[in-house]
Amino acid sequence: MDKEGAGIVGVGAYVPERIVTNDDLAKIVDTNDEWIYSRTGIRQRRFARDDEFTSDMALAATKIALTRAEIDPKEVDYFIVATASPDNTFPNTACWVQKGLGLEGAACIDISTACSGFVFGLQQGAALVNTGESKTCVVIGAEKLSAITNFKDRGSCILFADGAGAVVLRKTTDKGRIVCSRMGSSFDFDALAVPAGGSRRPASYETVDQQLHKITMKGRATYQTAVRKFAEMAMEACKRGNIAPEQLSWVVPHQANEHIIVSAMERANVPKEKIVMNLERYGNTSSASIPIALDEAVMDGRIKRGQYVLLMGFGGGLSWGYNLIKW
Ligand code: UT7
Repeated sequence: MDKEGAGIVGVGAYVPERIVTNDDLAKIVDTNDEWIYSRTGIRQRRFARDDEFTSDMALAATKIALTRAEIDPKEVDYFIVATASPDNTFPNTACWVQKGLGLEGAACIDISTACSGFVFGLQQGAALVNTGESKTCVVIGAEKLSAITNFKDRGSCILFADGAGAVVLRKTTDKGRIVCSRMGSSFDFDALAVPAGGSRRPASYETVDQQLHKITMKGRATYQTAVRKFAEMAMEACKRGNIAPEQLSWVVPHQANEHIIVSAMERANVPKEKIVMNLERYGNTSSASIPIALDEAVMDGRIKRGQYVLLMGFGGGLSWGYNLIKW
C-alpha cells in the first residue's frame, strides 16, 4: 500500500460559454487563422461575459470539484486561488470564492505567479495537508485574461483566454497522491509583465492610454526559455520520483503553445501521445490551463488510478514548477 500523503480527491473545471475563434480576432487585429494555428496550435478560446469575473469561474469549478469529491463546502479550511487576473487587489479572489459559497472562516490565499500559479498552489496546498494544518484544501487556477489582454498587440492577444479549474486536496493513501513538487523563479520583467497598477506604477491617465495595465510579452524569448524549462522539469521530476520517463502515463503542461510543449517533450523523451493538450479549443488560460486540462483527461477516462501524471507550469516572473502525481 502507498504511504499516506496529500492527494487529489476531486477535480472540476468551468469555461465560459462565449467562443471566440481566430477569425473573430482577425476582425479586431491584423492576423488570420492560418498564422495563429500554425504558430500556436490554437483555433478558438473562451471569453467570459462582461458581468462574469475570475471568482465566478473559480466558484463554478470549485462547486463541481467538491460535489464530485462528495465533500461539504463547510469542511474546506483553505482556499488557494492562483490567478494573474484577480477580481481586485484585495479582497483577494479566494475571499470572493468563499463568499460565493456563503461561508466564512477558512484561510483564503491568492498566489500570483502567473501561468505557474496552479502548480505553486498545489505544492503549497499539499504541504498544508501533509503537515495537518489543513484537512480539506481547495486549490484553484482561475483567470479572466480577456480583461488584461492588449487587443492592439497581435503578438500576444491571440494567445490568452478565460476559464477556471479546481482540485480538492485531502490526506489519502490511494487517490491522486502528490509524489513530489518543485518550484523555481527568476526575475525577467521584459519576458512577461503587467507593468502598471501596482505601487511601482500606480494607475494614471497615462498608464491607461499606454495600455500598461495589460499583459506585455516578449514571445520569442519566452518560447525558448519555456522549452528548456519544460524539458528540464520533466527529466528532474522522473528522477526525484524514482521513475523512468516511460513510466509517466500523462504529462499535463501549461497550455502555452503546442510547439513549446511538443519540442520540450521530445527533448525529455516523452511521446506526443502522452501529452494532454486542449489549447486548440481553449487557448492559454494561464493558471487555469493545467486544472482545466487535468479535469478533461480525468473525466474522459484517459487518466486512470495508479498512473503517474506530471503537471508542469511556466510563466511570468519568470516562474516554473511541477507536481508529479500518482493518480
Ligand atoms: O503562458 C506563457 C505565455 N507566453 C508564451 O507562451 C509565449 C511563447 N511564445 C510564442 O508562443 C510565440 O513567440 C508567439 C506565438 C507569441 C509568436 O510566434 P513567433 O513565431 O515567435 O513570431 P514573432 O513574434 O517572431 O513574429 C514573426 C512575424 C513578425 O512579422 P515580421 O517581422 O517577420 O514581418 C510579426 O510581426 O509574425 C508577425 N506576427 C503576426 N502575424 C500575424 C506577430 N503576431 C502576429 C499575428 N498574426 N497574430
